[in-house]
Amino acid sequence: MRLTADRGIVQVHPTRRCNLTCLHCYSSSGPRVAATTPLELLTDALDDAVELGYSVLSVSGGEPLLYRPLLELLAHARSRGMRTTVTTNGLLLSERRLAELHGLLDVLAISVDGTPETHDVMRNSRGAFARLSSRLPGVARSGIPFGFITTLTQSNVDELDFVVGLAGEYGAGLVQVHPLEPVGAAASNLAGAVPDDQELGFAMFEGLVQAAMRDDVRVHVDIARPADIAGITLPITGEDLRLGDWLTPLVIETDGAVVPLTYGFPRRFGLGRLEGAGLADLARRWDAGPFVELCTTTRDRLIAERRPFFNWYEEMRRAALRAESGRVRLARAG
Ligand SMILES: C[S@@+](CC[C@H](N)C(=O)[O-])C[C@H]1O[C@@H](n2cnc3c(N)ncnc32)[C@H](O)[C@@H]1O
Ligand code: SF4
Repeated sequence: MRLTADRGIVQVHPTRRCNLTCLHCYSSSGPRVAATTPLELLTDALDDAVELGYSVLSVSGGEPLLYRPLLELLAHARSRGMRTTVTTNGLLLSERRLAELHGLLDVLAISVDGTPETHDVMRNSRGAFARLSSRLPGVARSGIPFGFITTLTQSNVDELDFVVGLAGEYGAGLVQVHPLEPVGAAASNLAGAVPDDQELGFAMFEGLVQAAMRDDVRVHVDIARPADIAGITLPITGEDLRLGDWLTPLVIETDGAVVPLTYGFPRRFGLGRLEGAGLADLARRWDAGPFVELCTTTRDRLIAERRPFFNWYEEMRRAALRAESGRVRLARAG
């Protein structure tokens, strides 16, 4: 399902420990959460992922800089020829940490959720923006290519120009706009802040305007239109076709669960857990049929509804939840 990426991405969440407790955190991470994934489980999974056609490791979390073996994980991915990215809240990016990461990282993605006031509210921490921005000169000097990732809510689209301006000021090459999804902490704290279709349209337009206004910062908005999904075909039966050729991102959650597309994707559609079984085994045994059917029915429904803009990942997640609860109802009725 190469909707937004032309390479197969494995997204790992190796810890849910975090130095913040953001209002919107889909993984409900925080300082009191101890969950972490053993390094060996992940390096073994990466070995398999390469064979399955994946070529990018994207480390998220939790706060990846709190994962002790982060450097070993990145080095392992590099040794297998993968490109590497890390998404971070930026607070721990000291000169020493940046020097350690240099050479192991292709892109550093730093979360910035709008103006300082908005950022501090989302991050549930007064001064979070000030602490983050104090790191940016060092990031710029480090020579590591970096970008910003910003969470779009129902009320911060007009702050995109601030984020893009900040990117230009420090030499961040990309601003990625990703809509808020009502998962984890966001489901209880910010369900009403999920951007509606109209807001997604504004964000799309604003992203185009910002991108047209400057040639030093690319703006990518994770929003789809019917034309983007019309061409989704799922040729999963081709003889030489590997999982990484059509399913991206593949997500490895902290407890070893492997799911398609996004953290928190209903596990009934997932591949299983990396416990005893390697990723190659899980991929071989996976019955992709229900997931593929979910993709095609969601694609057809969205096209029939003629909605101009939508968050494909969220539409897929909701469709999976509906399918899951339908199955439970049927089971109860039976
Ligand atoms: C879960 S965080 C982990 C990495 C790191 N701690 C950080 O905040 O950048 C990964 C990215 O997902 C974003 N994010 C968290 N919860 C989200 C949600 N409910 N919907 C959309 N994006 C979310 C964060 O803002 C961040 O850019
Ligand atoms: S969004 Fe990132 S920084 Fe915020 S609590 Fe979640 S993992 Fe931590």
